Amino acid sequence: MVEVIPVQEEFWRMVQDAAKDEAEAVEFYRQLAERAPTSALNHSIQHIMGDEMDHQAFFESVLTCCDMGPEPDGSDDRKGRYEKRQVHGRRIRIPEVSEPYPPIRIECPNPEYARLLFDDYAGMVSEMTAINQYLFHHYDMPEEFAEVAELLEAVSIVEMRHLEMLAELIKLLGQPPMYMDGQGRFWDASFVAYIPGNPCEQLQADIEAEQAAIQTYRQHIAMIDDRYIKAVLARIVKDEQLHLRLFTRAYQRYCRCYG
Ligand SMILES: [Fe+2]
Ligand SMILES: [Fe+2]
Repeated sequence: MVEVIPVQEEFWRMVQDAAKDEAEAVEFYRQLAERAPTSALNHSIQHIMGDEMDHQAFFESVLTCCDMGPEPDGSDDRKGRYEKRQVHGRRIRIPEVSEPYPPIRIECPNPEYARLLFDDYAGMVSEMTAINQYLFHHYDMPEEFAEVAELLEAVSIVEMRHLEMLAELIKLLGQPPMYMDGQGRFWDASFVAYIPGNPCEQLQADIEAEQAAIQTYRQHIAMIDDRYIKAVLARIVKDEQLHLRLFTRAYQRYCRCYG
């Protein structure tokens, strides 16, 4: 099932350069937006920045996707871009963007911001739901979808890191990070789109989950006037864009005959 793609080092080096250039463009537009004299200009520049973030996520996903096959000898240095961790004795590649996470801090305690973050943390569309949904899909994937099952497990690990960062922010904002949404409703296992035995529908649900997460995070970035929290959410969005690309690629590869 694994597609063998002939590797040309020159190509991979150029893709790495493209990802780096896009990251620099994102940073440039971020600084430009901060200096915009009107909110309309700020908004337009942020929109352009969003496009550059998509381009960056695309190149990052190209680098990640094609590393997903079996490792021949571990000598390929482009694999060093993504962290590997031991899970039950297996080395798995963690699909997160190769940019460090911003420091976890806040400008001032703010209960309204905590409420918004609780929705991202353990609401219906949340990191808590994503972790449990991807893990269930990982357990339920049939043998011939082994590569997708591995991807889902690796993505769920990144979502755990997001959950942890949100928990720390919520704590700093003055609330205990219990598993509930902004209205105080506890997280519920029925939030998971299970769809047992339907790997392609599961992948489709996972694609929609990432799209919804990106949209919600972007709304919250616009609503929160705290530069530290904004930076953390913007960085999380980059991981979610990478996940969206990876799930979409997996769907295109494995589910062409089902859609
Ligand atoms: Fe996430
Ligand atoms: Fe994600």
